[in-house]
Amino acid sequence: MATAQFLALSSSSSASAAARPRARRAASSRVCAAGSALASGEPARRLAAEFDPAIPLASAVTPPSGWYTDPEFLRLELDRVFLRGWQAVGHIGQVKNPNDFFTGSLGNVQFVICRDANGKLQAFHNVCRHHASLLACGSGQKTCFQCPYHGWTYGLDGTLLKATRISGIKNFNKNDFGLLPIKVATWGPFVLARFDDSSQDTVDDVVGGDEWLGSASDLLSRSGIDTSLPHICRREYIIECNWKVFCDNYLDGGYHVPYAHGALASGLQLQSYETLTYERVSVQRCESALAEQEDIDRLGTKATYAFVYPNFMINRYGPWMDTNLAVPLDATRCKVVFDYFLDESLLDDQDFIDRSLKDSEQVQIEDIALCEGVQRGLESPAYGVGRYAPSVEMAMHHFHCLLHANLSG
Ligand code: FES
Ligand SMILES: [Fe+2]
Repeated sequence: MATAQFLALSSSSSASAAARPRARRAASSRVCAAGSALASGEPARRLAAEFDPAIPLASAVTPPSGWYTDPEFLRLELDRVFLRGWQAVGHIGQVKNPNDFFTGSLGNVQFVICRDANGKLQAFHNVCRHHASLLACGSGQKTCFQCPYHGWTYGLDGTLLKATRISGIKNFNKNDFGLLPIKVATWGPFVLARFDDSSQDTVDDVVGGDEWLGSASDLLSRSGIDTSLPHICRREYIIECNWKVFCDNYLDGGYHVPYAHGALASGLQLQSYETLTYERVSVQRCESALAEQEDIDRLGTKATYAFVYPNFMINRYGPWMDTNLAVPLDATRCKVVFDYFLDESLLDDQDFIDRSLKDSEQVQIEDIALCEGVQRGLESPAYGVGRYAPSVEMAMHHFHCLLHANLSG
């Protein structure tokens, strides 16, 4: 069980005999708590099994609405999907220089990613070892993390540098109370973390493309997705829908574009839409409509939309790349983080940047309305399951099959 593995980890290899059992006991009691929650998660596993991936797309029904509304089902997803394997958590611009850091959360996991004084990328559970206060907040630059509660202070390599007012304490070894590590690496411009593996034994901190992206790695590299473009801005949206509603919307092969995104549809040749599926990745591609010269600037001649299971989307069009990370907040709410990157040659063209971001914002506003409408429909007693449009919704079906495999495995 992933939760058990990362909670049971200790950051020290030189614990004193007296202190080590105590630290271990604290961790293992939390593992048991997580275990019993999962043991009662049998209904969620039964819900997962209601979707049958063996039925061909043309005959298949979609997952039942409970996949999108049930809090127990989300707990199962967090344990089986999000807390296993590499997860996108940010971009390298956020930890470019020594002492840069950013924080985040996924389910009940609170994390901080930083670059220590030696330039090494590090990641830790963002939880003080004294009484569990969250430690770092937001993002920025720090030479150490001082807990806001009682002032325990940690280095950016996770070491406990100072435990305040502990005179008289017994059986305490500072080395046992460093921050608990999380495995971290990069691929192209992206920062990835693994919450089921705390080992920090990688020679360099670059994850192999195949390890994260499987056989789609080459295609994505060729599509210019691994290049480090300057970061322009970040936009975050809280959307009143299950995180998968946002992903499904992304994965419908352009089906909704002519109905919901009139302006965008006029800039794309929707008949050229193609969908490719790989192990954990699907790629949708579409050509731009040559008549729309203004949008050619923004969209380029071909747009590539890559979905990296479970929740990361990379969009490459013309000089732009944007990424969308759909983070579950609860069963019926998610946060979607958009990061925009632009080719260096256009950095001075503020009009172009403003126009492009405005167009993109318009598409997001339209998608948010769709997603929130779908969520309300999923919660209606009138809806149980739906159907797929076989010629366009292949990537969505692929996504549901991957989820089923993780949740029932
Ligand atoms: S909880 Fe962090 S110093 Fe007390
Ligand atoms: Fe859309």
